[in-house]
Amino acid sequence: MHNPSMAASQKLYAALFHVLLLSLFPLNAKSSARTQAEALLQWKSTLSFSPPPLSSWSRSNLNNLCKWTAVSCSSTSRTVSQINLRSLNITGTLAHFNFTPFTDLTRFDIQNNNVNGTIPSAIGSLSKLTHLDLSVNFFEGSIPVEISQLTELQYLSLYSNNLSGIIPFQLANLPKVRHLDLGANYLENPDWSNFSMPSLEYLSFSLNELTAEFPHFITNCRNLTFLDLSLNKFTGQIPELVFTNLGKLETLNLYNNSFQGNIPSSIGQLKHLEKLDLRNNALNSTIPPELGLCTNLTYLALAGNHLSGELPLSLSNLAKIADMGLSDNSLSGEISPTLISNWTKLISLQVQNNSFSGNIPPEIGKLTMLQYLFLYKNTFSGSIPPEIGNLKELLSLDLSENQLSGPLPRPLWNLTNLQTLNLFSNNINGKIPPEVGNLTMLQILDLNTNQLHGELPQTISNITSLTSINLFGNNLSGRIPSDFGKYMPSLEYARFSYNRLCGEGEGLSQCPTTDSSKSSKDNKKVLIGVIVPVCGLLVIATIFAVCYVSEKTNCLMKRPKLPRMVRVPSQ
Ligand SMILES: *[C@@H]1O[C@H](CO)[C@@H](O)[C@H](O)[C@H]1NC(C)=O
Ligand SMILES: *[C@@H]1O[C@H](CO)[C@@H](O)[C@H](O)[C@H]1NC(C)=O
Ligand SMILES: *[C@@H]1O[C@H](CO)[C@@H](O)[C@H](O)[C@H]1NC(C)=O
Ligand SMILES: *[C@@H]1O[C@H](CO)[C@@H](O)[C@H](O)[C@H]1NC(C)=O
Ligand SMILES: *[C@@H]1O[C@H](CO)[C@@H](O)[C@H](O)[C@H]1NC(C)=O
Ligand SMILES: *[C@@H]1O[C@H](CO)[C@@H](O)[C@H](O)[C@H]1NC(C)=O
Ligand SMILES: *[C@@H]1O[C@H](CO)[C@@H](O)[C@H](O)[C@H]1NC(C)=O
Ligand SMILES: *[C@@H]1O[C@H](CO)[C@@H](O)[C@H](O)[C@H]1NC(C)=O
Ligand SMILES: *[C@@H]1O[C@H](CO)[C@@H](O)[C@H](O)[C@H]1NC(C)=O
Ligand SMILES: *[C@@H]1O[C@H](CO)[C@@H](O)[C@H](O)[C@H]1NC(C)=O
Ligand SMILES: *[C@@H]1O[C@H](CO)[C@@H](O)[C@H](O)[C@H]1NC(C)=O
Ligand SMILES: *[C@@H]1O[C@H](CO)[C@@H](O)[C@H](O)[C@H]1NC(C)=O
Repeated sequence: MHNPSMAASQKLYAALFHVLLLSLFPLNAKSSARTQAEALLQWKSTLSFSPPPLSSWSRSNLNNLCKWTAVSCSSTSRTVSQINLRSLNITGTLAHFNFTPFTDLTRFDIQNNNVNGTIPSAIGSLSKLTHLDLSVNFFEGSIPVEISQLTELQYLSLYSNNLSGIIPFQLANLPKVRHLDLGANYLENPDWSNFSMPSLEYLSFSLNELTAEFPHFITNCRNLTFLDLSLNKFTGQIPELVFTNLGKLETLNLYNNSFQGNIPSSIGQLKHLEKLDLRNNALNSTIPPELGLCTNLTYLALAGNHLSGELPLSLSNLAKIADMGLSDNSLSGEISPTLISNWTKLISLQVQNNSFSGNIPPEIGKLTMLQYLFLYKNTFSGSIPPEIGNLKELLSLDLSENQLSGPLPRPLWNLTNLQTLNLFSNNINGKIPPEVGNLTMLQILDLNTNQLHGELPQTISNITSLTSINLFGNNLSGRIPSDFGKYMPSLEYARFSYNRLCGEGEGLSQCPTTDSSKSSKDNKKVLIGVIVPVCGLLVIATIFAVCYVSEKTNCLMKRPKLPRMVRVPSQ
């Protein structure tokens, strides 16, 4: 029942319609600009939140595409060359973004929005793209293989999304890429063996699910200045080629992996290194003296490994060092005056939980920019040098769990910015002077388990910012100020037991049970363990017994969370 004449007339109408359509858009460039505008409008209509700045994207403004917000045009073709939609709170997906008309697009940047769904494979049609930034969104699924068709790409960031699956090996085909950031996703290892990206200058795989050995291809990326493999599950040795080949490195972040073995002496070849972060691995060598050749280092983090041996004196050359973190290793020896005298830019020195010994050198007083000084859990001995009073910027001083003796030096009380003062578990003797009340910013004061004696100064009530005070296990006498607590609105923890302190009238009733101590004034405040010598022997014995019990049930104290330097994860 096929009618040939009808078919012919249909063809004619179709042809006529086509001619009509073409006549509507006389110029080819104009037509593609219009197609692009239509494509953007179509996409905008699918967004569940389209921000006010995109109001210029409208049908009534169709002819002014090149003046639309976030759009730039190439001056020759008058078509879209750049789309820059950073931080506009765009909420939606790219599923309905028609990429096909954007043949001249060189830059597509939607960093920091709420775009979810998958990365459409059609993005591979943007053949002139040099800059693709989809970072800080909610993209999920795997990285589309089609991204490897974008052979002009120089910058690719998919940082901080919810991407998973194996990194497509085809990405190795991006011959011009200089900046590659796949950090903060859930990506897994490809077979790295045929990867080759020698043009890379910036590479981050930080915070993914990567395992096995250090990807070998990286050691051929000789132009790298920034390398971040942190927060993965890499194992094995750090290849020596990293240190001999990557001589332009300024930042090397390998922290929180399972790298083993040594820090090779060839590290001294990284002359441009400013930031070296090898924290929380299983490195078990000594610190090579050649590290002292990296004189531009400002940040050195080797904490949480199995490093042993002494600190090489050559580290004294690190005159720009601002943050030195060596804690939680098995390092030993002394912190000598020569070693530290050049470190005048130091803001944070953390060597806690090692086996350092000897005196704390008076030269520490020259490091006048110090804000954090953590020497706890070592075997430092001798007395606290009075020069520590020069460190006017100090916010946190922790010398606890050492073998320090001698008195508290007077200049200590000049450190009026101090928020944390932990000196517990030493052999410090002498008195707590009234000047303690000058440390009005103090939040944590822990002098427990020392040999302090004399009266508890009443000025202690002046420290109104105190949240925690622990004087347990000294030989203090006198009375706990009657208004103690009243003027300390934030006080959450107080422990005075195992002294010879005497409480006020109400102090007595606080002792026997937890409940009554809580009921006084403010139930956040726990004043317990007041042993009262004025009472009869029997009373003392009773109270002692009860206090001992409440010690166990109520006064189990963890090391308070200390303010540390904020370490922003890379990027
Ligand atoms: C951002 O978008 C959400 C919708 O996803 C909307 O509820 C919110 O008001 C927007 N915030 C701003 C600052 O525009
Ligand atoms: C994107 O997020 C919105 C809001 O949470 C959700 O309703 C929608 O299903 C998500 N879309 C995709 C493709 O995951
Ligand atoms: C991201 O993915 C993880 C699992 O891969 C899932 O648990 C999580 O809910 C996702 N988050 C968002 C915001 O989609
Ligand atoms: C990379 O290796 C995989 C298998 O490991 C292979 O299928 C693929 O063809 C290789 N690609 C290139 C570009 O060599
Ligand atoms: C490395 O950088 C130099 C200088 O910028 C450049 O000439 C060279 O082509 C780069 N190497 C690669 C493989 O991109
Ligand atoms: C890094 O490792 C340390 C020690 O294992 C751990 O405490 C810390 O939470 C890890 N950091 C992150 C961001 O996972
Ligand atoms: C360091 O660890 C490696 C492997 O984990 C081991 O073979 C080596 O003997 C260790 N070296 C030292 C100095 O402990
Ligand atoms: C060290 O840093 C300074 C200042 O940032 C810079 O001018 C110099 O070139 C750097 N030296 C090396 C060897 O990178
Ligand atoms: C301090 O650093 C400078 C420059 O790096 C160096 O010449 C000098 O020897 C260092 N001083 C000490 C005591 O190591
Ligand atoms: C400490 O403060 C006192 C005044 O309280 C002052 O006399 C003394 O010079 C200061 N010491 C230092 C080292 O600044
Ligand atoms: C420090 O405290 C003492 C005793 O409480 C006081 O006499 C002195 O004026 C205070 N010094 C400063 C600088 O506040
Ligand atoms: C500090 O405490 C003492 C004794 O309790 C008191 O006389 C003095 O006025 C207080 N100083 C300040 C500044 O509060």
